[in-house]
Amino acid sequence: MVNFKRSSGRTLTEMRKMYAKVGVIPNADGSAIFSFGDTVAIAAVYGPRQLHPQHMQDPATGILRVNYDLLSFSVYERKKPGPSRRSQEISKVTEWALSPVLDLKEFPNTVIDVQVYILQADAGTRTAGINAASLALAHAGIPMRNLVCSISVGKLDKNLVVDLDKEEEDYDEGEGATDFPIAKIANSDKYTLLQLDGKIQPEVVKKVLDLADKACDEIYEVQKKALKEVTEQ
Ligand code: CDP
Repeated sequence: MVNFKRSSGRTLTEMRKMYAKVGVIPNADGSAIFSFGDTVAIAAVYGPRQLHPQHMQDPATGILRVNYDLLSFSVYERKKPGPSRRSQEISKVTEWALSPVLDLKEFPNTVIDVQVYILQADAGTRTAGINAASLALAHAGIPMRNLVCSISVGKLDKNLVVDLDKEEEDYDEGEGATDFPIAKIANSDKYTLLQLDGKIQPEVVKKVLDLADKACDEIYEVQKKALKEVTEQ
């Protein structure tokens, strides 16, 4: 629908303002903050370090262990501290989104711990978290094939829109909102995460991926700039 207007005034393909900075947690081996508008994610990397308990060590490979959570004050209704089904799911998909760029066999018996916390949530927290975690891994000096970039494409009343905010996610007219979070290896056609919350026609998926590709190119530029800022210091 050509006349569709987003509540934020953004065009259909316009992302929220992005911000990225690395080296925000001096104690960590690598760290980064990444935001899409009011959604703010912070990530810290520790490792590779010996995995404990020892019986969990694998002499053939290291492991990537992600822990994602929302801070209690990050949402309007205070979030009860501690893990939930949602945080476990997002931790797992974040591991899957990032693992393909790492060569964990280089680090037998070890773990790379990635902690992702959401300081402020306004939808798109898993995608902001993946972007922050990818930057934090690079900042930790862990060899990576490339950065991972992540974005959500949605469908509101038959319109494809990039980077849904919470008001848009909750949109409840027409067919309601469909949310399609995607992660990919930068500068490639290798997708490392495709999730779908809602309904989408198979023939529309290609358009969704094209929009995600363009958005990921923009995210990649913001990530590279943040890494460059720290290496030039
Ligand atoms: O955050 P993301 O879009 O990746 O995942 P979601 O599970 O679809 O959550 C969408 C949004 O709901 C979050 O970004 C928060 O803004 C909000 N939310 C909330 O207000 N309280 C929660 N306990 C969980 C999510």
